[in-house]
Amino acid sequence: MAAAPTAKETRILFRNIDEPELASIRTYKELGGYQSIRKAFLEMAPEEVLKELEESGLRGRGGAGFSMGKKASFLPRGDMDKYLCCNADESEPGAFKDRELMQKNPHQLIEGIIIAARAAGANRCFIFIRGEYDLQGDILDQAVEEAYEAGFLGESVLDTGEQVELVVHRGAGAYICGEETALLDSLEGKRGNPRLKPPFPAVQGLYGGPTLINNVETLSNVPHIVGSGADWFKQFGTEQSPGTKVVSVSGDVRKPGNYEVELGIPTRELIEGLAGGTEERAIKCFFPGGSSAPVLTAEEGLDLPYSFEAMQEAGSMLGSGSIIVCDERTSIVQLALRTAKFYHHESCGKCTPCREGTNWTVKMLERMIRGEATPIDLETIASVQKNITGNCLCVLGDSMAAPVGSMVEKFRPEFEEALEKGVPSLNGRNGGARSGAAESKGRRARREAEHLTDAGRSR
Ligand SMILES: Cc1cc2nc3c(=O)[nH]c(=O)nc-3n(C[C@H](O)[C@H](O)[C@H](O)COP(=O)(O)O)c2cc1C
Ligand code: SF4
Repeated sequence: MAAAPTAKETRILFRNIDEPELASIRTYKELGGYQSIRKAFLEMAPEEVLKELEESGLRGRGGAGFSMGKKASFLPRGDMDKYLCCNADESEPGAFKDRELMQKNPHQLIEGIIIAARAAGANRCFIFIRGEYDLQGDILDQAVEEAYEAGFLGESVLDTGEQVELVVHRGAGAYICGEETALLDSLEGKRGNPRLKPPFPAVQGLYGGPTLINNVETLSNVPHIVGSGADWFKQFGTEQSPGTKVVSVSGDVRKPGNYEVELGIPTRELIEGLAGGTEERAIKCFFPGGSSAPVLTAEEGLDLPYSFEAMQEAGSMLGSGSIIVCDERTSIVQLALRTAKFYHHESCGKCTPCREGTNWTVKMLERMIRGEATPIDLETIASVQKNITGNCLCVLGDSMAAPVGSMVEKFRPEFEEALEKGVPSLNGRNGGARSGAAESKGRRARREAEHLTDAGRSR
């Protein structure tokens, strides 16, 4: 096995992450925290803060990678109530970076929210946190209270007369509420269903008002950009992906965890260097950006720079920056089923391609794993993924279609073999493959008839 590549972290958001008591306002301030807010409110006009963020090229860390400053600039000027929502729903399989950022350094996020609110002209802010993140919710509640007491939040931030209010709101455990418009509905007290776009939230968002929505990691970058300047920030990363990224690495690696690296480092350094590689086993594939990213094989992906543009050029995406590594023991058919089951369970059911497509993908893959599928099932699985893509209200449907489609495309012989023999479950454990005598002719005919009925219903 090749020697592990040299790898090092570049810590900006994680600079003081191992400092005991960092979550308290006292320690955060002792380490230089809440200096940028002074600069943003006492030395800079809101337009200057916005300009700095735009010039930094900071791209959203929640999935789509859209320019943060540009999005903030889309909010109309004027005296109406404007909102800022921090998306802390973090429910994508493989993602756990926001959890660590909130748990260990809540004031970095709160400072980022207050400064971003100034740039966008927003005065009412919310942190929408995943319901299961109970501990992190409590830590944030405490930190928000401290920030109010210190005069960083409230009717007159730092006695400037500028009002910024912040509320921590706990979700109720639905992945779809991480989608920005479903998040807004949920925050308004409704069932969290995605809204039709346009209008985009920047124009018509929470309670119908202009709303800036950004991820925890995106907003945690803001104090550093405003404190040290856009040019400083752009020294890190690549031209199109400036800055660092906190990457959650999990799956078949020796040292799963969060690693902060400059965007653009070779992916191999993250997987084999920082995360310690696999236990002497070959990497079969990995998800470069959470479970909704098309998988890349080791040959395709390991030597690519870990950046938004390189992952996109390779036909996948960096997404939220969560790498899930699957070693040679992994059954790709089982992996496809596991992925499809998650999205099927989380679909809000509003659009037919997503509701039915995720459902039937699960059913067909289960049949395949039991060794009961026919070649038509394989064709149908492939075509269902194509028919979902781009045909839904939000991208949850595509989030299943993209990885499952990539698995069928890149590992087709494994699916064909499953047609014959079924598949044992993930990582070699006994699974649902049929055992015993060969199927009788009559039984096979009945099954094929059933299959056709199923396929008919799926449309
Ligand atoms: C189904 C679904 C779930 C999502 N979940 C999250 C999430 O948990 N956290 C997040 O920041 N973005 C999530 N997003 C992306 C958000 O819609 C939105 O693009 C993001 O919060 C914008 O922040 P950013 O520009 O800072 O990345 C999700 C999108 C979809 C379609
Ligand atoms: S794509 Fe799926 S989750 Fe998104 S709105 Fe449609 S049914 Fe709901």
